[in-house]
Amino acid sequence: MATITYGGDEVSALVFDLGSSLSKVGYAGEDCPKAVFPSWVGYPPPAPTDGDGDVTMGESADTDTRMPTGEDEEVEAQDKGKGKAGVGKERKKRYVGENEIYTWRENVELKNPFKDGLVEDWDALEALWDHAYFSRLRADPTEHALLFSEPAWNPSKNREKLLELAFEKYNVPAFYLARSAVLSAFAGGRSTCLVIESGAHTTSAVPVYDGYTLKKGIKYQPYGGDFLTEQALLYFKQSGVSVVPHYLVQSKTAVDAGQPSQYVPRERPNTTDSFHRVAVERVVNEFKETVCHVSEGAWNEPGLSARPMKSFEFPDGYNNAFGVMRFRIPEVLFNPAQFVIKDSKKAEDPSAPDLIPIHQLAQAAVNSCDIDLRSQLYSTVLMTGANTMIPGFADRLYNELSAAVPGMKIKMQAAGGSSERKFGPWIGGSILASLGTFHQLWVSKREYEEIGPSVERRLW
Ligand SMILES: Nc1ncnc2c1ncn2[C@@H]1O[C@H](COP(=O)(O)OP(=O)(O)OP(=O)(O)O)[C@@H](O)[C@H]1O
Ligand SMILES: [Mg+2]
Repeated sequence: MATITYGGDEVSALVFDLGSSLSKVGYAGEDCPKAVFPSWVGYPPPAPTDGDGDVTMGESADTDTRMPTGEDEEVEAQDKGKGKAGVGKERKKRYVGENEIYTWRENVELKNPFKDGLVEDWDALEALWDHAYFSRLRADPTEHALLFSEPAWNPSKNREKLLELAFEKYNVPAFYLARSAVLSAFAGGRSTCLVIESGAHTTSAVPVYDGYTLKKGIKYQPYGGDFLTEQALLYFKQSGVSVVPHYLVQSKTAVDAGQPSQYVPRERPNTTDSFHRVAVERVVNEFKETVCHVSEGAWNEPGLSARPMKSFEFPDGYNNAFGVMRFRIPEVLFNPAQFVIKDSKKAEDPSAPDLIPIHQLAQAAVNSCDIDLRSQLYSTVLMTGANTMIPGFADRLYNELSAAVPGMKIKMQAAGGSSERKFGPWIGGSILASLGTFHQLWVSKREYEEIGPSVERRLW
């Protein structure tokens, strides 16, 4: 475990990379996060005597324990607050962690703190911090410096709020905010590179030079893995397949491929829309992550149709083999104009920006940088974020970039294993926070007290 010296004491550092789908938390100096849990927070309805929901509720009598279990052994955050920070004790009831949020309970709303990758719901964010500190790491916030990842385009007001949260609510001894792209670069052993990050909510292309992001080259869009999930869901809708999530299935009978499912539904009254939506998306995510494939070359329907099909069985027993469709769904990342599936709601949403093909996003980022730097960036293209794990993604990006910038040497920095792709920013944070020289960069509590939240300007 890496330590830093603070006020004469050695304190170990923690690293939090809270993504819009998965929160990754653990100790600096370790190879991978100690805990990974969904970034969803369940809010029970207010108790009848409790106008504003402040009274802690007991366990709901009716919970669905048939759901697959994850790594969590859950106790809600407010039960675990033991830190000197004095937080986590008088918290409202929240459900956090894989077991908790996927367990069906009447009227429980699920919220995600992020919108397009930026924190929007600070109460839900705190619930994730509580869960990380008190339920998963069992660590006292006052005893650990905290390195926190953020998108390269995080606005000042969000950065200030994060500093406030860290120092005023959790009373951390030292804090650092680090750009996710810089952390991924570190994880890949590069200080200059073009970082292509595709997570759940966003996809970005960020040039990193000498360990710093080049501001004018930062390009991002609010489309990532969750958008593909949405697209897959629209495809099922169009094909007449209704996705029945686990919590609604009492029992099922095996049926032949492509035949309607035969299952006994489970009564689940007063289910919130948010719980249902997350449960459906979870099934579709599994489909996407096991079945979908990016075409390595430009779209070629006859060639792709000849490739092996992949089967998938849904929780209600409906199953089928998917052929060209498994390529068609992620094709939208590289060829949105031709492949986007629009439902009427999305088509009517004028605020949604057009999706830019990922290779064009990369090009736009590089072209915003000095001409001397461009070949260096193209020769070090580093991919991170779990959405880039769809098979074929790296090959396609390479092929598209090679075709778009002929004569330029393009080199993809393939991450060693899947954990580097999945946990790139966290791993980089773990490395950075354990560097001997890094302790000079932390914002200490004293510095925060002297300067206030605007000290964020020093953290670039
Ligand atoms: N093996 C896989 N193949 C394809 N997609 C995957 C795979 N594993 C995870 N994903 C998708 O990657 C996305 C999550 O990526 P990641 O964990 O990097 O995002 P995040 O850090 O939570 O979000 P963000 O960085 O956008 O805030 C989800 O949409 C998930 O379905
Ligand atoms: Mg992320």
